[in-house]
Amino acid sequence: MKKPVAIIFAALCMAVFALAACAPDEPPADNNLTPTEGFVFELNEEGNGYTVTDFTGEATQIVVPAEYEGLPVTAIQGDYGTGALSRTYITSVVIPDSVEVIGQNSFNNCPELVSVEISANSSLTAIGNNAFSGCSSLGSFYIPAGMTSLGDNVFNNCGSLRGFTVAAGNTVYRAENGHLIENATNMLIRGVNNPVVPESVTSIAQAAFRRAIGITQLYIPASIESIGNYFIADSTITTILYAGTEGHWSAIEMTDMWNYGNREVMVEYSADIPQATGEILVVYFSATGNTEGVAEYISQATGGTLWEIEAADPYTEEDLEYYTGGRADMEQDDESCRPEIAGAVADFARYDTVFIGHPIWHGIAPRIIQTFIESYDFTGKDVYTFSTGVSSSGNAAFNALAREYTSINIIENLHFTSRNLANAQTLVSEWIAGLGLAA
Ligand SMILES: Cc1cc2nc3c(=O)[nH]c(=O)nc-3n(C[C@H](O)[C@H](O)[C@H](O)COP(=O)(O)O)c2cc1C
Repeated sequence: MKKPVAIIFAALCMAVFALAACAPDEPPADNNLTPTEGFVFELNEEGNGYTVTDFTGEATQIVVPAEYEGLPVTAIQGDYGTGALSRTYITSVVIPDSVEVIGQNSFNNCPELVSVEISANSSLTAIGNNAFSGCSSLGSFYIPAGMTSLGDNVFNNCGSLRGFTVAAGNTVYRAENGHLIENATNMLIRGVNNPVVPESVTSIAQAAFRRAIGITQLYIPASIESIGNYFIADSTITTILYAGTEGHWSAIEMTDMWNYGNREVMVEYSADIPQATGEILVVYFSATGNTEGVAEYISQATGGTLWEIEAADPYTEEDLEYYTGGRADMEQDDESCRPEIAGAVADFARYDTVFIGHPIWHGIAPRIIQTFIESYDFTGKDVYTFSTGVSSSGNAAFNALAREYTSINIIENLHFTSRNLANAQTLVSEWIAGLGLAA
C-alpha cells in the first residue's frame, strides 16, 4: 500500500485532524520551542547579555530562552558546588543558539536528563568541568563546530551515552564509532556504548568508560600507548579484547588503578578487531508512504541499501484506522506485541550504520519496529532513527526505543511532521552531511 493510498490517507488525516478525530496521543507541545518559565538571570559583567543562574520551575522538558529583557542569553552558570541546573529532574533541555558557555557543574547529576538539544548554528565554545557529570540517562551529545574547549570530566559517569556527533567544521574534536576523541592528542575522552575503540586512538582518558552500560566487551587496538585510571570502573564490561600481544599490553603506560572498580575484567590478547565496512542500511516501515519517501531520500544521500519492513500479515486500511480499537490500536496498547516480519535483511552483519524509519503510532514506534530490532545483532553498529507523524514530535518514540534497547547505539532521530515533510529532501541532506555520512 503505497503512494496513492498515502495521499488519500494524509489528506483525510489532515482534514479530520482539524476536527480532532485524528488527534495524536502525544500532545504536540513538546515540538514547541516556547521558552520555559522559571529561570533566574543575571546580567553579565559587560552588560551585554544574561547568564542563567538558577531554575526554579516545575517543568521537566525545558527550553532555555534565547533572550531576556532584550539581551541575548549567553551563558549557563557554573559553580564549584552546584551549577544553575544541577541536581534537577529535567528530562530534556533545549540550549538556544545564543549560549556560548555552559559553565562547570551546570547540569551535574541530572539523572533523568536524556536529551540535550544543541543546534548546528549554536554559538557554544566552551563547556566547563563536570558540566554533565552524573547525567546517567544522557543518550547522545552534539558538539557544534565552534566548541573548542571541553573541561575535565564533562561526561563523567554518563554511562548511557550511545554516541557523540561532532560537527564537520570542528577541528578540535572528532567522533569515531560514536566515541569522543581529541584531535591534537588522539585521546579518547569519553567512550560510549560501542565496543570498538578506533585504531586512530593512542590513549584512553581516565574514567573514559566509567559506568558504561550496555557493552560487555571492549576492543582495544594495538595503537594504544596509555590508559587512564579506572577507565572501565563500574561498567558492564567484562572482557577486553586487545589486538596486541601480552607483551604489548604490559608496555602500555598505566598504573595498577587501570581496572579499579572492575578488577574482575579479563584481557584476551591478539584479538581481531571488527573492521568498519562503511556500509549503510536504510530500513523502514511505512504503512501509508510518508516514511518511505524519507527513507528514499536517506538512501540517496548516503548511498545506503534500502530495505522495507513488511508485515507478514499486511495492514489493511481498516487495521490502520486509529481510535477504533482496531488492529494498530490494539498492537500499540500491547507492550509485548511483536508483529511478524515478512523476509529478512541479507547479510545484516556487513552494515556499520543502520537507519531505521517508522511512522509515529500513538506517540511511539509501531511494534513491528521492535520485532525488527530484536531480530538482529546490532553489536558495534551505529543506529539512527527517522520518523514521521501528523503533529507529534518524535521525542517520545526515540526515547522509548533508546531506553528499551540500551545495548544498541541508537544515536539520534530525525523527525518529520506534516509541517516539514514537504521539505524532507533538503532536511535529510543537511542531516546526513552533518553526520558525515554523505555518499
Ligand atoms: C495507528 C496510527 C496511530 C497514529 N498515531 C499518531 C500519533 O500518535 N501522532 C501523530 O503525530 N501521528 C500519528 N499517526 C499518523 C502517522 O504517524 C503519520 O501519518 C505518518 O506520517 C504515517 O507514516 P507512513 O505513511 O510512513 O505510514 C498515526 C497513524 C496511525 C495509522
